[in-house]
Amino acid sequence: MLSARRWKVSVAAVVAVVPLTLVLPAAVPASAAPQPPAAVPGEALADDLIVVGHRGASGYRPEHTLASYELAARMGADYIEPDVVSTKDHVLVTRHENEISGTTDVAARPEFADRRTTKVIDGVPLTGWFTEDFTLAELRTLRAVERLPDVREENTLYNGLYQVPTLDEVLDLRDRLSRELDREVGVYIETKHPTYFDVVGLSLEEPLLADLRQARLDGQRAPVFIQSFETANLRELDRQGVRVPLVQLMTAVGAPYDLLAAGDPRTYAELSSASGLRDIASYAEGVGPEKNQVIPALPDGALGAPTALVDDAHAAGLLVHPYTFRNENTFLPPVLREGPMPDDYGRALVEQAAYWEAGIDGMFTDNPDTGVVSRQLFLSTVQPVF
Ligand code: G3P
Ligand code: CA
Repeated sequence: MLSARRWKVSVAAVVAVVPLTLVLPAAVPASAAPQPPAAVPGEALADDLIVVGHRGASGYRPEHTLASYELAARMGADYIEPDVVSTKDHVLVTRHENEISGTTDVAARPEFADRRTTKVIDGVPLTGWFTEDFTLAELRTLRAVERLPDVREENTLYNGLYQVPTLDEVLDLRDRLSRELDREVGVYIETKHPTYFDVVGLSLEEPLLADLRQARLDGQRAPVFIQSFETANLRELDRQGVRVPLVQLMTAVGAPYDLLAAGDPRTYAELSSASGLRDIASYAEGVGPEKNQVIPALPDGALGAPTALVDDAHAAGLLVHPYTFRNENTFLPPVLREGPMPDDYGRALVEQAAYWEAGIDGMFTDNPDTGVVSRQLFLSTVQPVF
């Protein structure tokens, strides 16, 4: 059973009462401080509500850089989230996708102009520059840039400062920060395009397990999750006896690419049903749904009532860690937007309150400091006045 529930506030009340100010409690009692994560499959995990720094603290720094991960940990994220892809020489590096023109300065590098090409990734033609066409040494000459310069203009201040990290470097950073902060900083690692990387002979899972082993993060109590939008690689990792918990990612529409490629007609909607979730529980410890699979947005822009997903997942013994929570208006339900600009901050704490109340076990957020505050409020005996 989930144990960490304190104050209760109905979703309807949160969304219907739309005051102009948000009054936070002056202080959160020390006894309500969130507990450190215990990354053990099963019940031990279910007692912890975790905040995952999505691509680091990507609301404040270019995503998937050491600076972004470090800031997330310093803001209180329990886990930092590296997405991994492979280089040509089979080293895992952290990028949201293998096409890197949106997050690095590769397009401005004349020496790599001839690497621009078109490939079919997960059934979709894509033109650009791809990590698997670069050695690690070549990739290291590039510099990260902000993916969303229109929404996060402040982050462009850091364009050109940071390299593309290897997973090894992220695990080293995790170790250093865990010592310094005197708590375990976890890593919530996502394999990106695993079927594609298998086909091109750069399978992700073997180097991932080797990196975890080398960092002594392969044990049952290691603060690690492995997540994937595909199913076959998670099933395979489970069959191999991987001891860290596995998480099946899902979306509101579409289907896992490995199932599509195999001619299997199952969709994410079927995976999200009560029976689909019971099946996921045969190989994984949690699910990572898109946030509107937990609380759908209504046509009038308000948050609706929670779906059955959280209850069904918990009944199957699965954790629920939805993605992705962000502060800016453009990512919030219309009734929670404040100010005229898409990049103005809206009432993200109100949104997050509704999700904690719906029973989620953790959240992926680009703004880990906001996630930590919303969790503190939820765990507090002092009821916030929104
Ligand atoms: O892994 C959780 C969430 O990150 C999934 O979405 O596309 O941001 O990797 P994405
Ligand atoms: Ca991810």
